[in-house]
Amino acid sequence: MLRGRNEFSTRSENGFKEAEILLISQKGTTAMQLKDIKNVCNLGTGTMGFGTALTFALAGYTVRMFGRSDMSIERSFKNIRAALETYREHDLIKEAAIAEILGRITGVTTLEAAAADADFVIESIAEDLAIKRQVFAQVEKLCRENTILATNTSGLSPTAIAEVLERKDKFVVAHFWNPPYLMPLVEVVPGKFTSQETVDITWKLMEKIGKKPVALKREALGFIGNRLQLALLREALYIVEAGIATPKAVDTTMKYSLGRRLSTTGPLESADMGGLDIFYNIASYLLKDLCNSPEVPPRLKQAVAKGSLGAKTGSGLYDWTPEDLAKIKKTRENILIEWLKKDREIEF
Ligand SMILES: NC(=O)c1ccc[n+]([C@@H]2O[C@H](COP(=O)([O-])OP(=O)(O)OC[C@H]3O[C@@H](n4cnc5c(N)ncnc54)[C@H](O)[C@@H]3O)[C@@H](O)[C@H]2O)c1
Repeated sequence: MLRGRNEFSTRSENGFKEAEILLISQKGTTAMQLKDIKNVCNLGTGTMGFGTALTFALAGYTVRMFGRSDMSIERSFKNIRAALETYREHDLIKEAAIAEILGRITGVTTLEAAAADADFVIESIAEDLAIKRQVFAQVEKLCRENTILATNTSGLSPTAIAEVLERKDKFVVAHFWNPPYLMPLVEVVPGKFTSQETVDITWKLMEKIGKKPVALKREALGFIGNRLQLALLREALYIVEAGIATPKAVDTTMKYSLGRRLSTTGPLESADMGGLDIFYNIASYLLKDLCNSPEVPPRLKQAVAKGSLGAKTGSGLYDWTPEDLAKIKKTRENILIEWLKKDREIEF
């Protein structure tokens, strides 16, 4: 099965000209080795920012965590402590390790302080092209010339973000999943001018911090994960909108069938295991009956228009109480931790 290096060793066949890559490598600055990466600049203190800071610190890296105010840094440390407590409760770390892990993270409120000595930058600030460009243009000037600049964008084009940079070959996407300290996947996505070296070292770094990296051959909106997630959400909403089943029935179907299986065999492995002739037959009559609308699904549009944004506003596709949310979050966290225990390869 294709995994890891095999995936990006064929990348140039899919969207990159060999000559283009060679040119970038030749122009590129001194190559960074995995062992050279010691200091991480973590931009952002929100949902993802605190989690990536913690993930690097757990793996032994020194982290400068940039937030725009002391208040946001304090909030981030509060979230980091809570996540460490969860780790401790589940015996993933010892009580004695907590102070040491926290000691590796320094909160800073200027980009100068954040970028000083950085070998690797991971950015998790607002999903806004102009803001990301502006921040990276500044950070690039503050970093050494071989520092790798990675964005945790959910789907913006790395080529578009890197347009304002001098060292486009050092720019890459490292897309973590929420919460980053519990979800193993990181999608490593090259922009048009990202060098192979940058992809390779980012991939290796993600593996070193205990993640399961996947390298894309070329950039595509939504990368892999969000393309699959949105295709599934569109059909799930369509099933409800077309009166085929209730939201509860859709979620139950997924949780007790595909959801379980997909965590051990992906959709392509599952197709091979089920028999491609079977999937061919199903595809020949079913695909034309599935939703293929390019528009935002009506139910999603209406809910957002009236401010029903899901659990955080008390209603969305379901009604939510704070207790419901707390309960389901805890259940999900416990199950994710069991998975983490099963597949973790590094010891903190
Ligand atoms: N939330 C997720 O599930 C998820 C998953 C993967 C990737 N991402 C991506 O990670 C990034 C951050 O998302 P989040 O969910 O953590 O958002 P968030 O709103 O929780 O945090 C955003 C952070 O950016 C800071 N910020 C906003 N504007 C800024 C500016 N002009 N300069 C400096 N800092 C600024 C905010 O203060 C905050 O710390 C986005 O690109 C998002 O698409 C999010």
